[in-house]
Amino acid sequence: TPPQTLESRSVEAVGRMLKALEKKEEKGRVVVMTGAGISTSAGIPDFRSPTTGLYANLARLRLPYAEAVFDIAYFRSNPLPFYTLAQELYPGNYRPTITHSFVRLLHDKRILLKLFTQNIDCLEREAGVPDDKIVEAHGSFARQSCIECKTPYPQEGMREAIREKRVPRCVDAACNGLVKPEIVFFGEQLPREFFENRELPREADLCIVMGTSLSVQPFAGLPSLCREETPRVLINMEQVGGIGSRADDVLVLGDCDAGVRKLAEAAGWLEELEALWART
Ligand code: APR
Repeated sequence: TPPQTLESRSVEAVGRMLKALEKKEEKGRVVVMTGAGISTSAGIPDFRSPTTGLYANLARLRLPYAEAVFDIAYFRSNPLPFYTLAQELYPGNYRPTITHSFVRLLHDKRILLKLFTQNIDCLEREAGVPDDKIVEAHGSFARQSCIECKTPYPQEGMREAIREKRVPRCVDAACNGLVKPEIVFFGEQLPREFFENRELPREADLCIVMGTSLSVQPFAGLPSLCREETPRVLINMEQVGGIGSRADDVLVLGDCDAGVRKLAEAAGWLEELEALWART
């Protein structure tokens, strides 16, 4: 057998921990933090991967800088680039990945404390993670409203506007403000639910971070809220966010679908995970 690499030894240790948590009395002790990297294998580009990322492919929108497409000040001056892009971003018929199913499996085993996601694709919900276990830190397309008077805007109207690449205006003609989906733009506050739950990592026995560059605050600060003795597992193409700096950190670098399969195998859950994903 090949010599045990540091990674394989630590993946085994995490597997043993997952099994122990599953047997423990008090349940729900794993926090999970995710970003766009867990949806790339579903066909949704992430933001910052060099050639495939969204920010590398916005030249046609002639933006002053890539992130302007999600900047509230720029949106006020020119909402069209966002609405041009919204068609590609709008949650459509994408299938959750096995990584989404891995989070659902943690819930099924009653050890998921909370999933903090930066994603707006709602694939965690599609994978069966219940609403009360998900914090959509950067909002979602579930609701939309006028950015001036906050009047809600009908879902059907938004779908039509996005389909026709039209910029929807407030239902109150006297206001006529711009309508925007409730995804968090740069320059906007994160939802209340994020701040209500942001201390939870302090209670976790295990923290799993997947598919994120951890480059946007305050989300990026979540893993550092874990106690020193809480192992933090990073499943990501590359090392990010200072994870690896603590003695009990575990790096599982590479594709996240392969990474969750390694963890599931170490916990003796691989067959169960594959069967769950096959039904999704
Ligand atoms: N497997 C593992 N890692 C992957 C995969 C994959 N299949 N695909 C991409 N990654 C990694 C990338 O290498 C990168 O480190 O996932 C990370 C994705 O980082 P970003 O593109 O920056 O996405 P994210 O971290 O979610 O961005 C955070 O920035 O633009 C804002 O609000 C937006 O929520 C978004 C926030």
